[in-house]
Amino acid sequence: MKVLGLIGSPRVGGNTTKLVNAILEGAAENGAETKVYNLSGLDINPCKGCMTCKIESKCVIDDDMQMLYDEIQAADAVVIGSPIYMWEITAQTKLFVDRLIAFIKPDFSTRLNLPKKLVLAFTQGNPDPNTFKQYFDYMEGLFSFMQFDVQSSIVAAGTSNPEDVLQQPETLSKAKEIGKEL
Ligand SMILES: Cc1cc2nc3c(=O)[nH]c(=O)nc-3n(C[C@H](O)[C@H](O)[C@H](O)COP(=O)(O)O)c2cc1C
Repeated sequence: MKVLGLIGSPRVGGNTTKLVNAILEGAAENGAETKVYNLSGLDINPCKGCMTCKIESKCVIDDDMQMLYDEIQAADAVVIGSPIYMWEITAQTKLFVDRLIAFIKPDFSTRLNLPKKLVLAFTQGNPDPNTFKQYFDYMEGLFSFMQFDVQSSIVAAGTSNPEDVLQQPETLSKAKEIGKEL
């Protein structure tokens, strides 16, 4: 079992990193091979809408997404973590998500090697974990549409300073449990 973690926070080492790492730790404890990338440290350009991926089955942009396409195909499970910025995922995460269009065929079937499990991990400054529930459901819907087998979403709420999630042992142990179940 290979589990790929992708962190969409530009604040490396912050709450999102810790939350994603807890999931990966849980997976590793149950024997998974884990790998993690910080999206903000990679060269990921915006999709330019050329739609060449619909004809040639491959994105033409020569950047680090090419490596991530391969990593995603090789993984049994993907964990995507993002802080909420202005009610949605960060720009870094959005760049990555847009580029996943290369996995969608013209008839909307998928080029992904299936099955592929998915976990979404969010962090937010707002202390109410239900504030963005509709948005989290929408994100699950998007990834289900792309044929990912969505396992769960987890949110660490009320995380402003980079260490805040460490004060939430229940959230971190839930994250570990989610990883173990992968
Ligand atoms: C530009 C920016 C926008 C933000 N917008 C929101 C928001 O709309 N709602 C919210 O609850 N928190 C918001 N936050 C707070 C972050 O989501 C929160 O601090 C998160 O835990 C940061 O993750 P990190 O520690 O991995 O960087 C925002 C933070 C920044 C820097």
